[in-house]
Amino acid sequence: MLRGSGFVLRPLRAAEYADADAAREDGQSAKWVNALPQPDGERLVAFLDDQRRNGRLLHLAVADAESDSFQGEIVLFLRTPEAAEIDIGEIAYAISPVARGRGIASAAVRLLSEWAFRHVGVKRLQLSIHPDNVASQRVAEKAGYTYEGTLRSMKLIRGERVDGMVWSLLPDEV
Ligand SMILES: CC(C)(COP(=O)(O)OP(=O)(O)OC[C@H]1O[C@@H](n2cnc3c(N)ncnc32)[C@H](O)[C@@H]1OP(=O)(O)O)[C@@H](O)C(=O)NCCC(=O)NCCS
Repeated sequence: MLRGSGFVLRPLRAAEYADADAAREDGQSAKWVNALPQPDGERLVAFLDDQRRNGRLLHLAVADAESDSFQGEIVLFLRTPEAAEIDIGEIAYAISPVARGRGIASAAVRLLSEWAFRHVGVKRLQLSIHPDNVASQRVAEKAGYTYEGTLRSMKLIRGERVDGMVWSLLPDEV
């Protein structure tokens, strides 16, 4: 478990499926992020655990430090060494509609970034953000990431290929 200011990052629970789904499916979210990859909580938790054990990703719930209630999710994806993308991680996130605007996303990105440099040993972290997703670009900026450029047709969001703004953070920048 990672402790932030007013929140913690810890594994998602199966019972939080509806909350996680709601964070991705509201009107401000569904256009920027994909749906959950599994149809229910049990299968989602098993899938995420399998992905973690295979070194592909680390998925964490953002939970309130006092009540432990679900506030959002954050994911660290590890890029494939097979594509020579050695020691590169990518972070993605979605915050529950009611918890937005309190600085949670930027603090969670910062916390997970610091942890990934220190404990996973990644040498570069990146975010890829839809050019129209202004709130997420602000999160990147607030978390200390640097905008590098926009890659064409970079992401597949709900079946549509879209451009992605790439932001990065290096170990000596935290
Ligand atoms: C993007 C998202 C994660 C931000 O979460 P959050 O916890 O509200 O983020 P923070 O509070 O840390 O910061 C949000 C910043 O964006 C700004 N912001 C929010 N909506 C905005 C908008 N429409 N235009 C411009 N800035 C906006 C906020 O004012 C804040 O900046 P400030 O602190 O300088 O005022 C959240 O809105 C969300 O889950 N969106 C849907 C999913 C998503 O887009 N995920 C990212 C995919 S790349």
